[in-house]
Amino acid sequence: MKQTVQTLQAKKERGEKISMLTCYDYSTAKLMDNAGLDMLLVGDSLGNVILGYEDTISVTMEDMIHHTAAVARGTKNAMVVADMPFLSYQTSVHDAVLNAGRLMKEGRAGAVKLEGGQVVCEQIRAIVNASIPVVAHLGLTPQSINTLGGFKVQAKTLDAARQLIVDAKAVEAAGAFSVVFECVPEKLAELVTSMLSIPTIGIGAGAGCDGQVLVYQDMLGMFSDFKSKFVKRFADVGTIMNEAFKSYKEEIQNGTFPAQENCFSIEDDIIEQLKKELD
Ligand code: KIV
Repeated sequence: MKQTVQTLQAKKERGEKISMLTCYDYSTAKLMDNAGLDMLLVGDSLGNVILGYEDTISVTMEDMIHHTAAVARGTKNAMVVADMPFLSYQTSVHDAVLNAGRLMKEGRAGAVKLEGGQVVCEQIRAIVNASIPVVAHLGLTPQSINTLGGFKVQAKTLDAARQLIVDAKAVEAAGAFSVVFECVPEKLAELVTSMLSIPTIGIGAGAGCDGQVLVYQDMLGMFSDFKSKFVKRFADVGTIMNEAFKSYKEEIQNGTFPAQENCFSIEDDIIEQLKKELD
């Protein structure tokens, strides 16, 4: 079943959890879509896990469009959400609508995600007015890493928790159809989830959210630069890949690969004729 703003809203109302994973390419999108995931997030975390940057700051609109289009081509039913990269919406409402539109038009996203609360509500309102569904992102917002002072749990003090509530209500009022909470204490995320009518998606925000998202390389054990407490490893694909790469190298070296079944044949007399001509 094709996931839309309405089907995801209905899931919240039925108390049915929403599943989301990050995704950055066609083949993985097909696998995730076949597995029945509700939402695929082309996160700007591609800066870390695909492009090898230390943060998401350098990710460009071109990077996002390129990867979103690949994911969209591999997806039938899940909603594809594309992250708006750093400085693609903070600069002005005009830039925000234009860049959100490019992610839809050129990337074929079904929705866009942007970081921030009250401060980006004008942008959210304008993007939604352009008929583009918006997911907001609160708590740890990696594009603000240089002002947050590192990857750490957010909204732990009374003031910061109050601000999270204000921001969550503000993005809902501005028209966001969902909100991601990253690295937020679980009881706070649960409380805010109960205060909002739109679905909340947690990453490091506990089980009280309406849904969950993880970076897929983290949950498959394919990324070892750092591991957050909130990540659960569902498979050790990194080790499997490593073993396969080693076997591949060994089989090339010892001549086991390629075997007969991996080769294409040609009539012997053609080869004989060629050899004669070359003598
Ligand atoms: O870019 C990303 O992967 C994200 C998730 C962490 C929610 O924004």
